[in-house]
Amino acid sequence: MELITKAPKGTVDIVPGKSEKWQLMEDVFRSEAELNGFREVRTPVFEHTELFLRGVGDTTDVVEKQMYTFEDKGGRSITLRPEGTAGAVRAMLENGLYNEGYPVKLYYLTSCYRYEKPQAGRLRELHQFGVEMFGAAEPLADAQIIVLALSAFKRLGLEDVGLQINSIGCPECRKEYHKALKEYFTERKDQLCDTCLSRLERNPMRILDCKSPECQEVAKGAPKITDYLCEDCRDHFAKVQEFLTALGIEFEIDPGLVRGLDYYTRTVFEFPSKSLGFALGGGGRYDGLVEEFGGKPTPGLGFGLGMDRILLALEAQKVEFPQPVKCEAYLVCVGEEAQKKAFRLVDELHRCGVPADFDVCGRGVKAQMKYANKIGAKFTLVLGDDEIRQGKAAMKNMKTGETKTISITEEDFINDYVTVSTEAADFSEDGVFF
Ligand code: HAM
Repeated sequence: MELITKAPKGTVDIVPGKSEKWQLMEDVFRSEAELNGFREVRTPVFEHTELFLRGVGDTTDVVEKQMYTFEDKGGRSITLRPEGTAGAVRAMLENGLYNEGYPVKLYYLTSCYRYEKPQAGRLRELHQFGVEMFGAAEPLADAQIIVLALSAFKRLGLEDVGLQINSIGCPECRKEYHKALKEYFTERKDQLCDTCLSRLERNPMRILDCKSPECQEVAKGAPKITDYLCEDCRDHFAKVQEFLTALGIEFEIDPGLVRGLDYYTRTVFEFPSKSLGFALGGGGRYDGLVEEFGGKPTPGLGFGLGMDRILLALEAQKVEFPQPVKCEAYLVCVGEEAQKKAFRLVDELHRCGVPADFDVCGRGVKAQMKYANKIGAKFTLVLGDDEIRQGKAAMKNMKTGETKTISITEEDFINDYVTVSTEAADFSEDGVFF
């Protein structure tokens, strides 16, 4: 029975009370992206597995351990997206979005799937706000997207967020670095986990990102990529810092920051939450990924912010969220004719943008009034046969108890309703307009 009464491990329902908070976050992210000229892209929840093997990298934790991969009925290997970048790059290429001129700027609000050990801030179905930019090689673009994320955090009222940056260089300067890493880790082979032993030959940089405490301990003394950067990469990184500093943005350079996905080149960054101890988001450049997917060499960069984690951080900080929209007018009805009339009047109110509702459960007047109270309705109108005959009903202000008779005819109802509700707003004690 538990299988049908409990959501799968690592997933959560976003129910009323929570969903309004999500809507607020989504509104802020959407608006910040659009202010910066990014446009929404929606890609399928599943892709060909090959896309992630090639894009994210087959030596990453995400690909090696966390993907939801299955064979569909047509024998294809399919994977639920573990992240948004690979799909966005594919969609950009497949739909020829580059024809509209560079930079191509895309954003998404999306769910991702990773088979991880669930704990606070770590889910199997997670939600990301992400942006991806194509065709901009300049360090200014790196700074622009970092500032975009920070502005969104600020608008949400999030204070507990830092910025760590690093450069992991280009394939050229990484050759020497890989050599140095291989040497270092080979000497300490016996301290590495099995996964890292297999990474030693194929991709030693991934060892730096291993979650095993033993490997993390060894990684502490490993050579730093920043000592191996070529002149161009060093220059690029210096400029990113210059732009951030010019905008008064505080950041920390973390030479150990390599990120968990293989596509990154040059700038990488993360937004850590100090009190919660995990990253609220991260991103960087991936100048080789478009070419890897068969496109013309095109620089790319972006970030993904973990919305589930950001909400935890906002709640931990006790940020106030706006109240959900409440019912303004509740029409209490007695009898079938009254129900029909209420249906029409409520519809008219909706056309005018007034949140209104009426009984669809066939309850008695008392129960309907109780319900109106419970949902916080500001006004009630009782409709019965008499009211319909007379074309008038009593509109009750639920806060003051005052009632006013208004017309419920098609011609006058809205006018009368607006007059009474506006008067009530004018005279409300707290001065709040309804
Ligand atoms: P990522 O660092 O793997 O990057 O994920 C981005 C953010 O998603 C993380 O910083 C974290 O806040 C959140 N996140 C990741 N895994 C989980 C999880 N299991 N539960 C809850 N939250 C999680 C990417 O996904 C890249 N695609 C970002 C990017 C876009 N880079 C360039 N463009």
